[in-house]
Order: sequence, then structure tokens, then C-alpha cells
Amino acid sequence: MSIKNLIFCGFVFGSLFLASCKPEEPDVIIKKTKLDTALISVSSEMPPIVSFADNKVTKAGLELGRFLFYDKLLSDNNTISCGSCHNQALAFTDNGKKFSTGSSEDKVGNRNAMPTFNLMWFDSLFWDSRVARLKQLAIMPIENPLEMNTTAEAVVEKLKVSADYKERFKKAFGDENITTERLAMALEQFLMSMVSDNSRFDKAKRGELSLTGEEKRGFEVASQKGCFNCHSTSLFTDNLSHNTGLDLYFKDKGLGGFTKKYIQEGMFKTPSLRNVALTAPYMHDGRIETLEKVIDFYDHDVKDNLTSRNISPFIEQGTRNQISPADKKALIAFLNSLTDYELTNNPKFSDPFK
Ligand code: HEC
Ligand code: HEC
Repeated sequence: MSIKNLIFCGFVFGSLFLASCKPEEPDVIIKKTKLDTALISVSSEMPPIVSFADNKVTKAGLELGRFLFYDKLLSDNNTISCGSCHNQALAFTDNGKKFSTGSSEDKVGNRNAMPTFNLMWFDSLFWDSRVARLKQLAIMPIENPLEMNTTAEAVVEKLKVSADYKERFKKAFGDENITTERLAMALEQFLMSMVSDNSRFDKAKRGELSLTGEEKRGFEVASQKGCFNCHSTSLFTDNLSHNTGLDLYFKDKGLGGFTKKYIQEGMFKTPSLRNVALTAPYMHDGRIETLEKVIDFYDHDVKDNLTSRNISPFIEQGTRNQISPADKKALIAFLNSLTDYELTNNPKFSDPFK
């Protein structure tokens, strides 16, 4: 564990830092700088915009990234695009599916597709935090046999045949050269631009409207129940990993499977609560179908710490049944207030092939 992680986690979690941390820092040093363009708009209650020194966001880069995100050419048999599993109407998740189907019907993944908004602020990606940077991640679905089942080189060869893409790469990067690196950079730029900060909750915070009494009560309940210990900040996630007591035994070891650390088994990255009303089913394996059932889980289905060794101290254990039916309804109303229809309807993020 790097010094930075140790200090950070130690600071936040005291002696429990081991049980709620990020994986070790990767070797690459990622330099983030302030974005100096007006291409990505972010309201003031969100963290400051960041950008990568080696991948300056440009209008042409964003537009190219959008085409690539929605181009089925990125799969072996030209049947699926990133957008097939990351549907804008559902906050970029996979159409209510528990697991995604790859480029052929017999290829099914083993984790629930994650939403792809507000990612510029995250430096641990995927449910097990195994990737630190969008640029690295962007090539992985292309090369995953259960997803697009091809190679970045093969995709680059296909793109090179297109005069349209040659022009787009030239506009974005200065010349017609199409490379894996540039493919990844354009996808990174597009992913970074997907900001979600226009839900009813955000608008109320900015004084543009008032939340209903029930929504406000729901916020209080979430606060009292400690939900914001992990689903924290204006991103509604701490972007750290926790074992929330879903299982006694871990079929999917999550962070521990990646770091090979026993103490981190069963830990998964905290998903944002933003847009959860659109992203069912829930949890890393899509095991819970509805938000009502997610609340039931936190209320009375959490596994016991005696047997599941590293449950987060922020999770109430055992059978409690403490959330009243009225509070449960309020909690759902609050979660619904985090839905951002400007994200799901923004033409900038829509499929340009339609
Ligand atoms: C076959 C369905 C499928 C396709 C196609 C697909 N994804 Fe995903 N995506 C997933 C799944 C499933 C996960 C979660 C995987 C995991 O955690 O191991 C995921 C996770 C992600 C994440 C991580 C988000 C986070 O919060 O950490 C990003 C970013 C992402 N995908 C972008 C893309 C891009 C870009 C493409 C196209 C190059 C793409 N995906 C293609 C299913 C898919
Ligand atoms: C200890 C940190 C922690 C606390 C406290 C916590 N959560 Fe979570 N939450 C997580 C993690 C981690 C996951 C993903 C677990 C997994 O998939 O294995 C999650 C998943 C969820 C999901 C599913 C999201 C999705 O996209 O799949 C919802 C909804 C949710 N939590 C709501 C709540 C509510 C409401 C509370 C308070 C009652 C709460 N959480 C308390 C860490 C926490």
C-alpha cells in the first residue's frame, strides 16, 4: 500500500483502513490538471473539473469519442457497441439485464454493467477497482472475449478503411494516423464528458425548485441510516470499496480477487446513488431487482460479521427491521429525486448513428 493510500485511508477509517481501501496505486503516475475549456459543463456543487495532461479534451475529440462509443465496428462481428450495454436512457446501463450478452448470444458476462457518468472524478474503475484510468479501461471491453471479443489492432484496421474516421481522427489529433492509443484517448474524452448533475436534488440544492416533504424525509432517513458514509459527497459515492454483508462466502471476490488480499475479499466499489432509479438490477451481480428490495437488504438481510469477516463498520448487522414502511417510501422518493433526465436526454451523449 502506498503512503498516500495509507494516510488517506488511515485518516478516514482509523485503524480499519485495511478493510475499506483502494487497491495499491498503479505504477503510472496520473497527472490531473484543471480543464481549460468550456466543453464539459459542471455545476458548482460538483468537484472541480479535472483533465489529464496527456489527453486534452477537444470538441473534435469528444465528437470522435461519441462515434466510437456507438460504433458496432468495435466488436468482432459488428453487432454490438459500447452503447449496446451502456444505454443512455438508463443512465448508461444494460437494459435491466443482470448480466450482459457479448457479441454472440452464448457469451454472457458475470457482473452487472455499470453506469458510465461522472467518471472523470474516479481513479478506481470497474466493480473491483482493477483499473485506474479511463484510457486504459476503454480498450478492455473491445478485447474481452465475453464482450466485444476482438483486438484493438483489428478495430484500428477496420477504422482505417473509413475516410470519415480518417477525417475525424485528423480533426481530433492533428493527422490521419489511427492508433490504439488515439482510439482510447477519444473514448476517454467522451466518457469524461458524461456529467450528471441535473437531478431534482441538484436543482433543489441550487434553489431552482423545492423537494417534496417526502423526498426531504427520505434524505434524512438516508442520513440517519448512515448511507452517506459510503454513498458520500455530491457524487454520492466515496469511490472506495466495502463489504456490505451481501454474502458469507464470496463467489466473486471483488477487490480481493484483484489485489489477492484476503482481507479485501467481498469488497466492491461503492456505486453512486445518482440515477439508481434507472439502473436496476442492483449490486455487482445484479442480484437485487428493485430499490425496495435493496432497502430491505440494508434493513434486515445483512450477513453477520462473525462469519463474513470484513463487513464495513458502517453497515448495521443482523435482523433489525428498523425502517418503517413510511420511511422506506420516503427513502425511495429521495433516491428517485437523484434521477437526471438531462443526462438521459442530452443529444451530446446520444447515438449519432440513429
Ligand atoms: C457486453 C456488454 C458491455 C459492452 C459492449 C461494454 N461494456 Fe462497459 N461494462 C460492462 C460491464 C458488465 C461492466 C462492469 C465490469 C466489471 O466490473 O468487471 C462495465 C463497466 C464499464 C465501465 C466502468 C465504470 C465504473 O464506474 O467503474 C466503463 C467506463 C465502461 N464499462 C465503458 C465501456 C466502453 C467505453 C465500452 C466500449 C469500448 C464498453 N464499456 C463496452 C458491460 C459492457
Ligand atoms: C459501508 C458502505 C455502505 C453503506 C453504509 C451503504 N452502502 Fe449502499 N452500497 C455500498 C456498496 C459497496 C454497494 C455495492 C455492493 C456490491 O455490489 O457488492 C452498494 C450498493 C447500493 C445500491 C445499489 C446500487 C447499484 O447501482 O447497484 C443502492 C441502491 C444502495 N447501495 C443504497 C444504499 C442505502 C439506501 C444505504 C443506507 C440504508 C446504503 N446504501 C448504505 C456501500 C454502502
